[in-house]
Amino acid sequence: MQIFSLLPLLPLLWQATAQPLKSSTRQKCQQNPTHCPAGTIIVGNSTTADFPTLQSAITSLPDDTTPQIILLLAGIYVEQVNITRAGPITLLGQTKSPHDASKNEVTLTWAAANKDSTGQSVDNVFSSVLVVAPTLDASLTGSGTTGFAVPDDTPFGNSDFRVYNVDFRNTWAEYSDGPAHALSFSRANGGFYFCGFYSYQDTVYVGKLGNAYFYKSIIAGQTDFIYGFGTAWIQSSKLQLRSCGGGITAWKGTNTTFENKYGVYIVDSTVQAANASIAADIKGACALGRPWNSQHRSIFARCYEDGSIEPSGYIDWVVSGVARYVKGTTLMAEYRISGPGFNKTGRVEGGVTALLTKSAWKGYSEPVKVFQDQEGVFGDVEWIDWEVVGGE
Ligand SMILES: *[C@@H]1O[C@H](CO)[C@@H](O)[C@H](O)[C@H]1NC(C)=O
Ligand SMILES: *[C@@H]1O[C@H](CO)[C@@H](O)[C@H](O)[C@H]1NC(C)=O
Ligand SMILES: *[C@@H]1O[C@H](CO)[C@@H](O)[C@H](O)[C@H]1NC(C)=O
Ligand SMILES: *[C@@H]1O[C@H](CO)[C@@H](O)[C@H](O)[C@H]1NC(C)=O
Ligand SMILES: *[C@@H]1O[C@H](CO)[C@@H](O)[C@H](O)[C@H]1NC(C)=O
Repeated sequence: MQIFSLLPLLPLLWQATAQPLKSSTRQKCQQNPTHCPAGTIIVGNSTTADFPTLQSAITSLPDDTTPQIILLLAGIYVEQVNITRAGPITLLGQTKSPHDASKNEVTLTWAAANKDSTGQSVDNVFSSVLVVAPTLDASLTGSGTTGFAVPDDTPFGNSDFRVYNVDFRNTWAEYSDGPAHALSFSRANGGFYFCGFYSYQDTVYVGKLGNAYFYKSIIAGQTDFIYGFGTAWIQSSKLQLRSCGGGITAWKGTNTTFENKYGVYIVDSTVQAANASIAADIKGACALGRPWNSQHRSIFARCYEDGSIEPSGYIDWVVSGVARYVKGTTLMAEYRISGPGFNKTGRVEGGVTALLTKSAWKGYSEPVKVFQDQEGVFGDVEWIDWEVVGGE
């Protein structure tokens, strides 16, 4: 009797468990393409590859919900990639060191800022090395306090996007010269494991209804280099300061009919100058963030901060004489920070950085408490690779 009553559930269980690639299988494939699971698409210049560019491989995928795995052979891919597909996609970078983002052997690179070839300014999305979003509208940053008004009937995009050991580099300039995305991620769920994101301004953009989880990754930049509207969780990663400008984080909150926790959570990570020579130049000068609108939300929790951080921690953003920081609305916070970058006197004097108590942090302390589906239901985390996060 009991067995029979479970039968109708089986297709659901199958769907829920079909996707995750076991870590051992994944690492074998990353180290030797002949060991990849059947059906893996190989990208690269080798005669054994199926496609020479990632975009051509992505374009070949069926528009359905089948999980797809793509292995990028070691090399530098000079291309902009745009992924609109809703079905699960896993991108693997070939590597001898699957646990170390600093030794990645696959780079996707492009050089662009938010200007077209005539110098006219265009939306930030057009600068991006990788764009993941169902439509162009879903990916536009727009302007004003609420950004681009994405039409309500826009579908959700990728339900389960995963990337392992790939670097994304926007090489437009070696200083802030306008938005120059490495990643633009909107209306989709995605995890980035042992990846690298390198630019100077606006390196990582998590746009509207974007849910992005980063694990043991490197994010490098100068100005507002982790920004957006959606939800980002950055776990056990390295934030590299290549200079200072604006803040490290800049978020725009959105009013929704349900409670939302859109924002960026940087946990068990390090915030440090990219190298010793830049460390000397930026001592005490980099802000943890500034409010892109008054509903900015960001928390650095259990992080190490080197001496590059400003005594005040965060700073306000005053535009045309109007301060965007609003006490009680803006959340620019820290919890249990260590390192010379943490100056308690400076934080208190600055007046914009919230030092969270344990009970205040409890409302955000795990991905399951902050990631929401598009209707606002919390606990939307099946797309995170819990095997890797739990022990690689
Ligand atoms: C493949 O070869 C082309 C032509 O030589 C080159 O432009 C491209 O960068 C190569 N791609 C990779 C990943 O090495
Ligand atoms: C990405 O591809 C979609 C579908 O072809 C297109 O509509 C959109 O404009 C592209 N996005 C960008 C930023 O080029
Ligand atoms: C240190 O980092 C800065 C910022 O990325 C870069 O311009 C400089 O070349 C680096 N210096 C060394 C010695 O690596
Ligand atoms: C959200 O609602 C509050 C209260 O009505 C308003 O002050 C604020 O400007 C709104 N923010 C956005 C981004 O729409
Ligand atoms: C800490 O902040 C206070 C207040 O801004 C400042 O006077 C002091 O020099 C700072 N200490 C260090 C070590 O930067």
